[in-house]
Amino acid sequence: MIRWTRCQCSMESGNLLEPDDARYQLIFIKTPVLRDSTAGELFFPRDDSKTVLDQHPENVPGRAKKVHWTQSIDHWFTCVEKTLNEAIPHLSEQGFLAISVIGRHRHYVKLMLDDLLGENHFMNEIFFGLPFGIRNPTPAGVPLFEITGSLFVYKNDVDANINPVYNSKKSGGYWHAMDSADPGPAKTFTINGEKRTIPPPPGCHWKFSQDVIDERCRNGSIRLSSTGKPQYWVKEKKGHIIDNKWFDIQATSLGSGTLEFTNDFLERILLSFTSKGDNMLHVFTDPGVMEKIARRQGVHYNEWNPVFREICAIEGGTGSVIMPLACFSGAKPCNRGSVAGVAGEPTLEVHQKGGLSLARNLFFPTELDGCTAFENRKGIDPDSSCNVLARVDNLQGMKWLLNEYRGKIKLIYIDPPYFTGIDEQIHVPLGKQEYASRGNLLNAMAFKNTMEGDDGARQFMEWFSPRVELMRELLAREGFLAVRIDYHFGHLAKLILDEMFGERHFITELLVRRIHKTVTNKAKLLQRHLINQVDSLFLYRKSKQAIVKKCPKKVKRKNGDGIETRYRCDNLWIDIAGYQKRKKTLYPTENSEILLRRVIDTFTSPGDLVADVFNGSGTTIAIANEMSRRWLGIDESAFSINETRKRLLDGDNPTHFHELSFTATSAAGGNAISWRLECRVITRGMNVIIRLTPESTNGAKGSDILDFLAVDWDNKPERGFWCHFHSNRKIGKRKRIAREVSDEIQHVYQEPGPHRICIIACNTRAEEIELSIDIDLE
Ligand SMILES: C[S@@+](CC[C@H](N)C(=O)[O-])C[C@H]1O[C@@H](n2cnc3c(N)ncnc32)[C@H](O)[C@@H]1O
Repeated sequence: MIRWTRCQCSMESGNLLEPDDARYQLIFIKTPVLRDSTAGELFFPRDDSKTVLDQHPENVPGRAKKVHWTQSIDHWFTCVEKTLNEAIPHLSEQGFLAISVIGRHRHYVKLMLDDLLGENHFMNEIFFGLPFGIRNPTPAGVPLFEITGSLFVYKNDVDANINPVYNSKKSGGYWHAMDSADPGPAKTFTINGEKRTIPPPPGCHWKFSQDVIDERCRNGSIRLSSTGKPQYWVKEKKGHIIDNKWFDIQATSLGSGTLEFTNDFLERILLSFTSKGDNMLHVFTDPGVMEKIARRQGVHYNEWNPVFREICAIEGGTGSVIMPLACFSGAKPCNRGSVAGVAGEPTLEVHQKGGLSLARNLFFPTELDGCTAFENRKGIDPDSSCNVLARVDNLQGMKWLLNEYRGKIKLIYIDPPYFTGIDEQIHVPLGKQEYASRGNLLNAMAFKNTMEGDDGARQFMEWFSPRVELMRELLAREGFLAVRIDYHFGHLAKLILDEMFGERHFITELLVRRIHKTVTNKAKLLQRHLINQVDSLFLYRKSKQAIVKKCPKKVKRKNGDGIETRYRCDNLWIDIAGYQKRKKTLYPTENSEILLRRVIDTFTSPGDLVADVFNGSGTTIAIANEMSRRWLGIDESAFSINETRKRLLDGDNPTHFHELSFTATSAAGGNAISWRLECRVITRGMNVIIRLTPESTNGAKGSDILDFLAVDWDNKPERGFWCHFHSNRKIGKRKRIAREVSDEIQHVYQEPGPHRICIIACNTRAEEIELSIDIDLE
């Protein structure tokens, strides 16, 4: 258990809650915008923000910035911690705590809450949109503005669920602001017979054309809000399930200089977490709004505005203060320089079973059984166009890579296991019966996604830290690291990444889409709510020299009669799939190609070196290959290597081949099917034939048994192997397109004398066999 041990409080809180106060079903805390240095205008911005000045009489109008208490992140945390400590005891047994946090330090609030309430009480992180973009301290290049905020939700009772299916408005919809990003002209609104020409807010456009505005004004689905801004009516789907992406409603606006939640957002919170007759406590209030909505819903409302006098009196601030790892007892501070240097012996000890090379690619299927491996691959020139795929624990693999690749990689993209608690399976179809019975699938573990013991946080940190350290070493000075991860350990990953890369090298947290419709429907069936539909993609740069040159997100919008394409520099990347819908492989966690194309396009140029050391189905390297980047892939799973190999070698061309025989026999887990593949190598003069005879207890054909076959006729690694077969099995609902294994594969040698043939075959369980055969041709 990582404990939050920061306690040097230098604040006093006013209006303390009485200990015997009502028990609250919902405690909703809106933390002030967490911004460091001089970004004070958001909290105490203007002389006329009356409420703020009333609540904080110590503030001097016009000197607002100087007394902004969020100037020091250190103090910000102290205040929030104190507030939470005061508020949590007032939560009812079935109650929810929802706390909104904005900015790049929000993961530390999750750490704090995990400690105060317990990790298993965390429900989800809800994401919502902001009316402005936060630029993280990246001095040059495209800013990738953060336009999202978070609401962490915790439940007091682990079994509590939010109100069933969301059906927010009895009236069937809500009013939505009509402005959208990108500048545009003023338009005419005719409401109640009165014509008004209204320009959109600076830098924005009105979402609809003049014709649509006229039509909507006629049928009453456009109105002017109390501040005179046009709003349009959005119909809400009944029974719409709530996930954690709340971008369907406008959640925030800039009120009198402060960030305010909209009615729609507050109403959704109330409907989700409270019922009629419940009590709620609002901490750091938006004056009046929530109270009104609560009254309408029959919820008893109470508010509490702690005042941090001492903090408010502090002038200036310490600027960007990073929570050092040492703040968390039990966490190991990182130890830079622990990585073996180039001069040292390679620390990787693996057994290289064989090398496959097709075109310019090298494949290293390896096993960790104590022999020195990669040795004969030493001297690969990282500047050449040689690509590498290695099967090995990446801790060892990366140490080996340091020999030749230190400071050479332009982009490392990783999608490590999230440790969701469920091991990932691979389902391989076997033989014809597969269509009749699902039992005829071979189900084997693709990779481990669980941890043993109950000390997950510590295990994760110890497992992840040295790998981050190695990745950092491998990156070029102009290099980038992209880490895809979810809420299970994302906050800890951020902590480690901040520590090792330096917080100033954090670029942004991109939000990427996690699941698609089928999963949502499943959740609907299971009546689960607030399901997670968003993953984080943390972006770091190695040094200031790494500059983001492109604005990668394209948006199309109507412009008169045509469609105009614009680029958006923000962190909300849920406009594209995060996982591949029509999968290319059998691997369970295949990332989407469109996402990888965007990432690779944004951070690299043709010829650059791209690596994925949690290779999985090989999406990163397949797309890098397609986009003319050089690549390195590492994974410890045999299935990963096998699926990737097939993916990269699609379209092989059987040609050449010789003597001896091997068998591959295996029983497929619970399926009790065993198979055998006999491979005979026959020499006829200069002609060498490999004859394959598959047998199985269920009539499975050769293509069900053999997944991959490659031969190196002269066992010369530099020449590489010829891939003669790789199956392309049925994936999802797509038609099965596996090719039959040809019975015979032949090769005619040009030169008599001794030759060494090397064969690698892999069955559908990703079990590999390597054979080398010496022949002497007359
Ligand atoms: C979520 S999957 C990656 C999915 C991949 N991005 C894709 O597009 O298919 C995580 C992968 O990390 C691999 N892995 C986990 N721990 C590893 C380790 N220590 N060394 C190498 N690979 C590891 C697993 O075998 C698994 O294939």
